[in-house]
Amino acid sequence: MSQPLPRHVAIIMDGNGRWAKAHKIKVALGHRKGVEALRAIIRESSDLGIEALSLYAFSTENWRRSPQEVAALMGLLLEYFTSEIDELDEKNVRIRILGDKDGMPDKQRAALINAEARTRDNTGLNLNLAINYGGRAELARAARLLAEKAVRGEIAPEDIGEDALANELYTAGLPDVDLLIRTSGEMRLSNFLLYQCAYAEFLFPETLWPDFGLEDYHAALAAFAGRDRRFGGRKA
Ligand code: IPE
Ligand code: IPE
Ligand code: MG
Repeated sequence: MSQPLPRHVAIIMDGNGRWAKAHKIKVALGHRKGVEALRAIIRESSDLGIEALSLYAFSTENWRRSPQEVAALMGLLLEYFTSEIDELDEKNVRIRILGDKDGMPDKQRAALINAEARTRDNTGLNLNLAINYGGRAELARAARLLAEKAVRGEIAPEDIGEDALANELYTAGLPDVDLLIRTSGEMRLSNFLLYQCAYAEFLFPETLWPDFGLEDYHAALAAFAGRDRRFGGRKA
C-alpha cells in the first residue's frame, strides 16, 4: 500500500439515490447497496491499520427527505448495528457516534448507545459513524459545553483555545482528518467535520458510493500519498 497512509480518513458516502435511479430500482435498495460498500471499506481500513475512519451516514439535514426514505434509512441503520456489531467488536474496532443521539428514534438510539458502550475499550480502528450529525451543530454544542464549564468555574475564559474546543467535539482525542473523500462527483462538505477538515486533502471521485470498491479506495490512498502537504509552511 502506498505510503504515507492517512491517519484519519473521512468519507461522504454520496450517490446512493443516483445509483438506484440508474438501475431503475427503489432508492431504499440504493441505500442497501451502499451499506455493502461500507462494510468492505471498514474491513479494509481495519486491515490496513488506519487509525480513524469517519463515515457520513445521516446528516441533520437528511430529515428533510420523504418519510419513506427516512424510514428506510432508519431501518437499515438498525439492521446494520444488529448484524455487524459482533464482527466489529471481534476486529477490535471502537465505534463512536458523531451526532445527536437524543434526536434519534428510541430503538436506533439504544443500538447506537450499545455499540459505543460495547466497543469502548477496543484499541483497533476508530470507526466514527456520523448519524444525525451536522458540523455547525457540533461546534455550537462544543461552545455550549465550554460555557457550562466556565459558569461552573472549572475553566477560565482565557483558557479556551483550539485544544479546549477540539476536546469538546465528538472526535475528541482523535487526529484531524488527513483525507476527505466524497463520492459521486459532488464537491462540497455538506456540513461534515468542518473543524476537523482544516488541513485535510480532498478527493472527489466520480464513482457513486454503491460502486466504490477496494480499487477505488486504494487509488484514493495512492493519490493522498502523492499530495504535498505544507500546513502553511514552506519546504526547503
Ligand atoms: C447518500 O446518498 C446517502 C445519504 C444521504 C444517506 P444520496 O441518497 O444522497 O444519493 P444521491 O445524492 O441522491 O445520489
Ligand atoms: C451528505 O449527502 C450526507 C450524507 C452522505 C450522509 P447529501 O446528499 O445529503 O448532501 P447534499 O444535500 O447533496 O449537499
Ligand atoms: Mg446525495
